[in-house]
Amino acid sequence: MGALGKAHNIDDLRSLAKRRLPRAMFDYIDGGAEDEVTVRANRAGFASVSLVPRQLVDVSDVDLSISAFGAALSVPFMIAPTGMSAMFHPGAEPAVAAAAAQAGTLYSLSTMASTSIEDVAGCFSGPKAFQLYAFRDRDLTSEFIRRARAAKYNALILTVDVPVAGNRERDLRNGMTLPPALGLMGILDVLRHWRWALDYARAPRMTLANVAHRIDEANADISTLSGYITNQFSPAMTWADARSIAEEWGGPFAIKGILHPDDARAAVDSGASAVIVSNHGGRQLDGAISSVAALPAIAAAVGSQCEVFLDGGIRRGSDIVKALALGAKGCFIGRPYLYGLGAAGRPGVDKAMEIMTTETRRALALLGCPAIREIDETMVIKHHT
Ligand code: FNR
Repeated sequence: MGALGKAHNIDDLRSLAKRRLPRAMFDYIDGGAEDEVTVRANRAGFASVSLVPRQLVDVSDVDLSISAFGAALSVPFMIAPTGMSAMFHPGAEPAVAAAAAQAGTLYSLSTMASTSIEDVAGCFSGPKAFQLYAFRDRDLTSEFIRRARAAKYNALILTVDVPVAGNRERDLRNGMTLPPALGLMGILDVLRHWRWALDYARAPRMTLANVAHRIDEANADISTLSGYITNQFSPAMTWADARSIAEEWGGPFAIKGILHPDDARAAVDSGASAVIVSNHGGRQLDGAISSVAALPAIAAAVGSQCEVFLDGGIRRGSDIVKALALGAKGCFIGRPYLYGLGAAGRPGVDKAMEIMTTETRRALALLGCPAIREIDETMVIKHHT
């Protein structure tokens, strides 16, 4: 793992992932919708917030712990749900889950995962959330809820920003399919990334593990997976559905994809115990407000009634500190751990977790703040860009 030793930050892991993965795979992680304005805004949003440090505070012991969904976590960042990670490295979800548990944080499993609810639960003992897409097939949604409860997931996360699929033009240009078809990706690109290709060819055939049985029942070919899934997203979902899902689950329940304070209020009214301020990493509505710009109004609206989390554009420990100072209780990271996974599998994810932990601890010490719970709004100034 020589190359990993030279990765000093998340951007270095991104470069390593770019080197190991064929272009279509890397772009699937890295890209966003249309002109990727929101992808860039998520980063620019953090750059427009300044930290205002205090000096001569004893920071010899910095406490990074938070609680989220009733679980005690060692660090203030959690693993965001991402689909089909086995494209990037075999054994992806179990590797990421184990890395999360080792770092002392919560792992979220996507509906679209390549490993099932039960198999992931069986391979690690840390806190975990199941991320739900509400499908047209309401019975399937209920089945997911029952299975997540039986497998002892701590929380349910309902993602609400995919009424229709985002328009990801890099994927269109690359001929990206789910699961990826090697033949369509360009033989030269695959040959150039032969290490990835060997891993991919040797691994068990990839599937959407949580819905595979439905596809089998429909007697459909696996290549129709993405068609099946696209048809399943329900553009007709409303707050009434969110409420019925919250009631059916009955435990810690987050609504992910909130950008408007009124929607945050509606989430609380629907029974959510948490909202995740998110624009899906800029992969859905291009031009949507950055997560960090949306955060303060949402924290002001519902921060006293539910947990407020944020994802989108976090690449540095100092970004996490800024989000917490602006009212988030914790953050989720998506691409940072996927870059690690794509670069080197489990050791790459461990590296991403280590980088984020070390940077957060250092940022707090330099800010003169000995504990996450002592972060407050006097530690940041927002500039308008
Ligand atoms: C995602 N995201 C996502 N979200 C979700 O609710 N269900 C999913 O299946 C996926 N899948 C997915 C795949 C990939 C490759 C990426 C990059 C993202 C969105 C994810 O949970 C999170 O909101 C963003 O990744 C956060 O932004 P950053 O940290 O990637 O900038």
